[in-house]
This record gives sequence, C-alpha cells and structure tokens, in this order.
Amino acid sequence: MSQARKINVGLMGLGVVGGGVASVLLDTDQQVSAQVGMPVTLKKVLVRDSSRQRDTSVPVEMLTTDPEDLLGDPDIDMVVEVMGGIDPAARYLSRALASGKHVVTANKEVMAKHGPELFKAARQGGANLLFEASAGGGIPIIGSLMGQLLANEIRSIRSIINGTTNYILTRMAYQGAQFSNALAEAQEQGYAEADPTNDVEGYDAVYKISILASLAFHQRVPPEDVYREGISRLEPQDFRYARELGYAIKSLAIATLDPEGVGARVYPVLIPVDHMLGKVDGVYNAVEVTGSLCGQVLLHGMGAGRGPTTSAVVGDLIDIGRRIQAKEPPADAGFSGSSGRKPLPVRSMDDLHTRYYIRLNVTDQAGVLAQISRILGDLGISIASVLQKDTFPQDQTAELVITTHPSREASVQEALRLVGSLGVVNRVSNMLRIEE
Ligand code: NAP
Ligand code: HSE
Repeated sequence: MSQARKINVGLMGLGVVGGGVASVLLDTDQQVSAQVGMPVTLKKVLVRDSSRQRDTSVPVEMLTTDPEDLLGDPDIDMVVEVMGGIDPAARYLSRALASGKHVVTANKEVMAKHGPELFKAARQGGANLLFEASAGGGIPIIGSLMGQLLANEIRSIRSIINGTTNYILTRMAYQGAQFSNALAEAQEQGYAEADPTNDVEGYDAVYKISILASLAFHQRVPPEDVYREGISRLEPQDFRYARELGYAIKSLAIATLDPEGVGARVYPVLIPVDHMLGKVDGVYNAVEVTGSLCGQVLLHGMGAGRGPTTSAVVGDLIDIGRRIQAKEPPADAGFSGSSGRKPLPVRSMDDLHTRYYIRLNVTDQAGVLAQISRILGDLGISIASVLQKDTFPQDQTAELVITTHPSREASVQEALRLVGSLGVVNRVSNMLRIEE
C-alpha cells in the first residue's frame, strides 16, 4: 500500500453506480477529501470496453480493461467494486483484500454468496470491507445493523428491498400498467439488474435479505436457505381483489428469529393498505426492524438508482478513509458477530403460520363451495371470507376469492393440491400470503 498521506482509489465499473461515484470523486470541490481529512484521488477505472461513449467526465487515460492496473498497483489503497456479477468480481475482491487493499462494494450477490471468504481475506490482509450499498440503496440499514441497533436482539425484519419490483407493482396497482412496460421503465431509470429476472423473480431480494438476516441474527443465513417466489404470476385482478379486501400487494423480504430457529423468505404478499409498508410506492424501499429494545423502527428511502447508491458507496469510502487517516485497525466486520448463542437452525417453510389469499377459477354451479370448504376444513384451515368475483357466463365459470384465518403452510399447500384436483375447479389461479 502507498505510505503517502493520501488515498488512491481504484474503481471497478463505470455504469449507473460507477458513473455517480466517479463524478463525486472527481468533483473539484474535493468534498470527499475534506470529509476524510486527507486527499482522496481516483487513480484508475476498470471497464469492459474503454472505447465506449460515456456520460461521465472520467479522463479516457484513467480507463483500463486490465484488472492488473488496479490489483497489481501497490499505490492503490482502496478498491470500489460496482461491476456486479460473481465472476470476476469475487476473485478480484478476494485478491484485493488479501493484499491489504480496502474494499467497498455494492455487490449483493458477491456478499451473500461469498461474504465469509471475503471477510476472511480482509482479516488476513488487515483491510476494511464495507458494503452498505448492497441492500437498500440509499437507506443506511447495514450500518444501522452493524452499529446503532447492536444492543437489540433483532426479532424480525420485514422489507421492501427491490426497487424494480416495487416500481412495477406500483405501476400495475395504480395505472393498470402491463408488467413488461413497467419493467422497461424501471430499466430506463437504471434501477434494474443486468438480468432483470434477478429483480422480478426475487433473487436480488434473496441476496439482500440473506445479508441483512446474517447481520441481524449474528449467524450466516445463506441465500439458498431463503424461500423465494417472484411477482411474474400476479395478474391485474389480484390487485383489484386485494384492494377490495383492504390490502395492497407488495413483494416483501422477511427474516424472523424465534426460539425454534431463523426464517427467511421473499414473496409477494397482501398487506393492509394503511400499513406503513403498504404505502411504500415506486422505487422507494423500506426496512422495518423489530428489536428487543428499540421496538419497531422503519427506514424508508430510495432503494436504487445512481444518486442513492452513490450516497451509500461514498459513505463507506469516507468511513474507511477516516479509519486510514486515524490509523485505526480495520473494523472487524463479519456475519457472525458475537451474540452469545449457538446458531439456530433454519425453519422450514412448512411450519409458517399465516393468513392466505386464494384465487380459484371454478365451474359456476351449486355445491362447488361446499366441496372446497370440506377440503379446507378437513385440513384444519378456517375460512375468513369468500367472495365470488367475476363470472364468465360464456363458459359458466367464476372467480372465487377465499381468505383464511392463520393456517399452517404445509396444510394450505396440501389443500391447494386437493382443491386443484376437483372436477369443478378449473385452476388454482393464485395463492398469496397475508401479512398483518
Ligand atoms: P451497470 O450499469 O451495468 O455497470 C456495470 C459496470 O461494470 C460497467 O461500467 C461495465 O463496463 C463494468 N463491468 C462489468 N463487468 C466487468 C468486467 N468483467 N470487467 C470490467 N468491467 C466490468 O451496473 P450498475 O447498475 O452500476 O450496478 C453495479 C453494481 O451495483 C451491481 O452489483 C448492482 O447490483 C449494484 N447496485 C446497483 C444499484 C442500481 O440502482 N443500479 C443499486 C444498488 C446496488 P462497461 O461500461 O465497459 O460495460
Ligand atoms: N436492481 C436493484 C433494485 C438495484 O431494483 O432494487 C438496487 O439494488
């Protein structure tokens, strides 16, 4: 590392986020240097294609397509990774940390899948590793879990942490927009991942809740232990029926801790329209944390886009810069800070106990409801309400919307299998859980 009293930064990626970070670092006011208390200089920027036209003021001679220009340069003190993807990002970060370069990353996939190895490399290299932008965009949730909320036993996190999904759901709910048009708008705004399947099928939120749950519960909750459902099966009538019942539809990423274990899941839910999470619209994100001392805390803000993400990345950069300036040892970051207890098992989805919304397409004739309610009753599922919605006289079918009292997931899944096999049921059109 350079011994000079300045900090040289190597930036990996110059897209939506990298462009924002570069412009803050190149700003002639030198705000970052002033905040850190010593000069902070952008030295090299790694891209895939250095000949591409870009909307940034980064001098072309600063661009490189060779990672060695950053990783092999002993004068670069800190690497800011905003490229995305697993490979080569994880390899580059591991090497940077092991060689003592500090790292700031916005890469939730790398942190969720390879966090433990990276923390280990950071300890070996005596380097800091910060990742505030990896969940919640401009919302300072990671710093809160690693700092101000530490006095609590965190009991649950309920969050809207994918801006693209929330943007799409909001456009579908209020403007009746087609799914594909709303997604295209989110992509134009720079909210979506390189592969938007990651957003709409819930993978992005899985990585984020894996990181948040691991920090909150002081034990690793890997992405493969997070149950996931996307939003692509939602249809306009789900939004209409939900609203009639007093609910909004939101994709929530939830993590819970109880004596039996930890649970983590991402799926669209019905949530009361007047619940704070039910009112979070557009690209906004929100994270509700329930702690043993603080009670319920709700953080709300922009979850994606250049400005909010740059805010989180540069905040981390300044934080590390100040540590370097003060000659402080690296912060001992990790997913398993001491909680004084053994890691708890991950709870099976089968044991989830919640309310359900079920939409069925049935033959419009006498006795149908009796057959369905018998199956539900036999499995101990108590019906809270039944609505017969749109009827289709041309083929004598109707939509039936059933809500249940709290029931066990495994029983509901079995009931849906049995109901779906009834001759009078044409389709189990949708099943959503209800959050209160
Ligand atoms: P982006 O616009 O697609 O930009 C990616 C940048 O990385 C591009 O400049 C690209 O180079 C460069 N790059 C990608 N692969 C590379 C490789 N193998 N070698 C060298 N350069 C490479 O992505 P983004 O939206 O800025 O997102 C970056 C990261 O931030 C991701 O991890 C994302 O999940 C995270 N994030 C994004 C947001 C958001 O709102 N966009 C919010 C929070 C977190 P070229 O320009 O030459 O193609
Ligand atoms: N694609 C992500 C989102 C970017 O829409 O929330 C922020 O992580």
